[in-house]
Parts: sequence; structure tokens; C-alpha cells
Amino acid sequence: MMNVHIIDHPLIQHKLTIMRRHDTSTRSFRQLVNEIAMLLCYEVTRDLPLTTEKIQTPMEEMDAPILSGKKLCFVSILRAGNGLLDGMLNLIPSARVGHVGLYRDHDTLQAVEYYYKVPSDINDRLVIAVDPMLATANSSIAAIQRLKDGGAEHIKFLCLLAAPEGVKAFNEAHPDVELYTAAVDRELNEQGYIMPGLGDAGDRIFGTK
Ligand code: PRP
Ligand code: URA
Repeated sequence: MMNVHIIDHPLIQHKLTIMRRHDTSTRSFRQLVNEIAMLLCYEVTRDLPLTTEKIQTPMEEMDAPILSGKKLCFVSILRAGNGLLDGMLNLIPSARVGHVGLYRDHDTLQAVEYYYKVPSDINDRLVIAVDPMLATANSSIAAIQRLKDGGAEHIKFLCLLAAPEGVKAFNEAHPDVELYTAAVDRELNEQGYIMPGLGDAGDRIFGTK
């Protein structure tokens, strides 16, 4: 069985449709990534454990719910991951942040690493790695492997859009990592782009095309 959660929420699907349109402006695209990231973050953190803490309200004392368990670390897979990261941090501003810099070689489609920096206590944290696109999954598989090699033990991966080929490859490479996505599209094309997709996420977020 595939370890994938499809976050099929009307607001997310609506915003994703606007992002997919070829004529959506850079400004709107960036704003929508930010908004969707908050909604996705809400779902990916749904099973965080709670405990209670005795507090004093202005009226009386109560046992109030509060997050317990491992602290969070978001990891952005550069550079398009930064689009999602901003929205996630709007919701959880106290999260620590790591970065894995990878780009996809246009000819081989293999991931090439150029940067790695994460908090030193990453092994004690729940890591949520983010990248809007999971196409061949070469980038996310390499990023997750790098995080595991760096000591991360509890990792979730969050993207916006996935290809079925990428979901399968990701699951085979990292069956222990829960994968969250807003949609799984039809297929990859010969250039490794998701179809129908939304184009190059990094270029659309940063306006670099
Ligand atoms: C895009 C995207 C993913 C990767 C997905 O990044 O943000 O990281 O491609 O493709 P894959 O699943 O086939 O590896 P890109 O290499 O274009 O770099 P960028 O984020 O710097 O734009
Ligand atoms: N990376 C993207 O940004 N888009 C795709 O469709 C595939 C990889």
C-alpha cells in the first residue's frame, strides 16, 4: 500500500487550479503558494501529540491542551521549497528551519546537491521537508537520504503536486516517510515535467523564466 496522504480540501483545490493557469502572475502564484502552504501545514500537523498544562484564565484554573513531543524542524528543498516554507512559518513561527540545496540536472534529471544546513539537534525533531513538486522524485529522495544521513529519524515530506511515478519511487526509497500532497497528476512527460502540472514551480514563484 502507498504511504501517501492526498489533502483534498476545496480551498486547496481551488487555489491550486489558479496556480496551474498559465497566465497567473508571479505575484499571485507566490501569494497562492503561501496560502496553500498554511492549509497544507494544518493537515500535515494534524496528528501532533498534545498534553495538558495547568493554566490560569482570567476566570479560573484549567488543564489546557498544549503541544507535546518532538519539536518541529521544517526543511526547505531549495529553491522552490522556500515558497512553501514561508506559509508554514506563518502558522508555526517557532519552528527551526533547515535547507537542502538541490537542482535537477536538465539532461540526466538527477539531483545535484549544492547546499546543506540543518539544526544540530535534528535527530530530536520531527522534520517536515517541503518542496512543491515531486516529479521523478530524484530530488526529494536525495534530500531525505541526506537528512537521514545527517541524523534525522522522524521525517514527513510535504509537496503540492506529485506525479504517480514519483510517488511510487519515493515510497520505494523511503517507505518510512509519510508523503503529503494536494494532488497526484496524470503522468510525467519525456522531459520529466508533471502533466498537466503547473510548469516549473521555482521559476513561477521567483519569476525567473
Ligand atoms: C524542481 C522542484 C523539485 C524538483 C522535482 O526543482 O522544486 O525540487 O524539480 O523534480 P524531481 O522530482 O524530478 O527531482 P528544480 O530542480 O527545478 O530547482 P529549483 O527549485 O531551484 O527551481
Ligand atoms: N519541477 C517542476 O518545477 N515542475 C515539474 O513539472 C517537474 C519538476
